[in-house]
Amino acid sequence: MKSGPIGVFDSGYGGLTVLKALTSTLPQYDYLYLGDNARVPYGTRSFETVYQYTWECVQALFSMGCPLVILACNTASAKALRSIQQEKLPHFAPNRRVLGVIRPTTEEVGLLSTSKHVGILGTPGTISSDSYPIEIAKFYPELKVSQEACPLWVPLVENNQHLSEGASYFVQQHLEALQQRDPQIDTVVLGCTHYPLLLPLLEKQAPKNWRFLAQGELVAGKLAEYLQRHPEMESQLSTQGQRRFLTTDSAASFSEKAALFYGEAVQAEKIELDHYPFTPDAH
Ligand code: DGL
Repeated sequence: MKSGPIGVFDSGYGGLTVLKALTSTLPQYDYLYLGDNARVPYGTRSFETVYQYTWECVQALFSMGCPLVILACNTASAKALRSIQQEKLPHFAPNRRVLGVIRPTTEEVGLLSTSKHVGILGTPGTISSDSYPIEIAKFYPELKVSQEACPLWVPLVENNQHLSEGASYFVQQHLEALQQRDPQIDTVVLGCTHYPLLLPLLEKQAPKNWRFLAQGELVAGKLAEYLQRHPEMESQLSTQGQRRFLTTDSAASFSEKAALFYGEAVQAEKIELDHYPFTPDAH
């Protein structure tokens, strides 16, 4: 297989917070970002729908030459990653890899909590999948994990209202609910691409002993370790420092909103997923 970029997939713009960290930790690689803005949000959709949408997007990234795809979206990582790894890759793309954001987070969280009581904030889809408690139990069975779904936080961020008074109300509501579930929490995972943008409010309104764990840098660090352990994958990645941004919806809107998540202006291109059929790799 020819070398190619690292694919970074998200349901929309949010994964740009993860891409930002990846490009600053591992700037040498080429990155191809795909946001499925035409079908966002994923956070409220069923398992079957998230799995189908995510696999379609992963195939498009494969057909554009990505040997490795990161699912930057928590909802896709929760609902589609395992099935793609177990049911799709062995048959269609045995030498390519798809990685998510939940496992790297759960590997670390137990090291950060002193009280051994942690909280997870995420979309309804991520929370109802129980992916975080299930994964955390594999590494840290002694941790008590409490979860809270925050359905309105993504729309608040997407509409640039995340620092408004209205946002402050909805932030408070979920922080209190989580605290009531377990008053001994000291570490809280921001289990959604959009939540790092709410950090100024979260840090102001949360109990002072809470420490928030945002995923970008953590995922980037884990990817660097993964590539060291897997030279057969690392050698397939192209290294010209290129970044390309694709969306399934309007390129103009993507370019306009992306700066909020990525911290700098980007020039996006619109694609039709069915223009990129994936021909399965030879075994
Ligand atoms: N990217 C999604 C996540 O991290 C949030 C947006 C959505 O619901 O699609 O869960």
